[in-house]
Amino acid sequence: MDPNASGLAMRLAEAGQSHLLQFWNKLSPKEQAELTLDLQGMDFKEINGFFQKAMESSSSSKQEKMDSRMEPVPREVLGSVTRDRESLKDWELKGLHCISQSKVAVLLLAGGQGTRLGVSYPKGMYDVGLPSHKTLFQIQAERILKLQQLAEQKHKIKCCIPWYIMTSGRTMESTKEYFSRNNYFGLEKNNIIFFQQGMLPAMDYDGKIILENTGKLSMAPDGNGGLYRALRNQGIMEDMEQRGVEFIHVYCVDNILVKVADPSFIGFCVNKAADCGAKVVEKNNPTEAVGVVCKVDGHYQVVEYSEITLATAEKRSTDGRLMFNAGNVANHFFSFAFLKDIVQKYEPQLQHHVAQKKIPYVNAEGQLIKPDKPNGIKMEKFVFDIFQFAKTFVVYEVLREDEFSPLKNADSQDAKDTPTTARHALMSLHHRWVLNAGGHFIDENGRHVPAIPSLKDGTDLPIKCEISPLVSYGGEGLEALVKGREFHQNVMIDEKGVHELVKNGV
Ligand code: UD1
Repeated sequence: MDPNASGLAMRLAEAGQSHLLQFWNKLSPKEQAELTLDLQGMDFKEINGFFQKAMESSSSSKQEKMDSRMEPVPREVLGSVTRDRESLKDWELKGLHCISQSKVAVLLLAGGQGTRLGVSYPKGMYDVGLPSHKTLFQIQAERILKLQQLAEQKHKIKCCIPWYIMTSGRTMESTKEYFSRNNYFGLEKNNIIFFQQGMLPAMDYDGKIILENTGKLSMAPDGNGGLYRALRNQGIMEDMEQRGVEFIHVYCVDNILVKVADPSFIGFCVNKAADCGAKVVEKNNPTEAVGVVCKVDGHYQVVEYSEITLATAEKRSTDGRLMFNAGNVANHFFSFAFLKDIVQKYEPQLQHHVAQKKIPYVNAEGQLIKPDKPNGIKMEKFVFDIFQFAKTFVVYEVLREDEFSPLKNADSQDAKDTPTTARHALMSLHHRWVLNAGGHFIDENGRHVPAIPSLKDGTDLPIKCEISPLVSYGGEGLEALVKGREFHQNVMIDEKGVHELVKNGV
């Protein structure tokens, strides 16, 4: 269809985006049709508005000012698995009760592109090389299944934890296909709800949308804060309401240790009557790539690692710890009522953050150029930007070695958060579960292998131990299997029992 006749050319001209049609006459009819379809679905005024606001708020003077407005999380909103041991059981029971009433849903943010890991498929499908070769999706699915069983056993009532999975244009089909091919890992198909977040174009510094080839815009998902718009546009809030969901655990796909629908975290938040909560670990290295939960101008917020100045990241309290040490592990709690308010009222107030990127583009001659320095921006909303609207906000501190080992980068020397570190973290945790349950590992010299929380890159674990989530969600229920036993080989514990595996066979 002729863009002049359809009014598209006019719309683009008004928005200062006419360059998007500069190769029109060189495109095939099919390419013309595809470009028209893409452009027709876009609201250029809105996009230009996003660009202007995002650029304004990301100017460096504003960022520096923000540093001076930051305060650490006050003690009174903080719960901790180590400092509040006496309350932990109560929280867990509370959470499990909520689960048994089918009031708890989990929501997975899986719309990212996994650029740093460098895979072309969704990150949740990644196999970090465990003895079982389970992927992140499978591990999470089995944890949900186990938790349902634990709640059912305790309360003698059938329950379900609906699993909402946010994907993006790039990950939707492969994610759905993967779950279907694997029979939803034993979960009920109807209780896994896939939905799709929006995309936004990449723009150059003058606010012009970038073409990645002569007939195609450079598009990227609109950040994990695109969640709220997607919840509204895709009728997800209605689905939650119909199911009677009251509490939602939102988490990111890449943490192999994630305690999906963690009953203690949920119980803690519910007992505190919180509408919003964040799980954190202590950040102990100023340059670690985690956001920090803090207050800015009296409102709760996460300040991302890319948005904090080094001077502020390095500040220490009198006890020697980092002043801003509430490291965001991207596990959030929302009450349904709060989430509904966000989706209906506050979402438009959320600002896009700016990520400066090297974005491949076509030049005036139609040649593809891969720039070697940033030439434009991608705009993203962040999931935690709604903390500012919470009336009762709480923070829950957990142990890194028990709960946080994200998969961000491919294996390479000195790389952090890799398949190797994720695999080691999981097996090291499972090793400790066996020790806690009274089992032992014996090395070649007949000595007990101690609990090893982490290893330097390059070295391997002396004994590998993997426990299926279908057997244990958080270390419970293992005594009958391992108490008093000595293991000389690698160990895998699954629904069929305890298997000793030849060491180099794993
Ligand atoms: C994220 C957190 C950071 C935290 C860290 C912990 C955000 C914005 N930042 O950082 O504060 O310390 O995890 O590991 O949450 N995603 C989407 N859609 C998108 C972009 C991302 O669903 O458009 C999902 C990804 O699939 C992933 C999660 O959001 O599950 C986090 O994305 P990623 O880009 O890896 O965040 P980080 O920068 O590592």
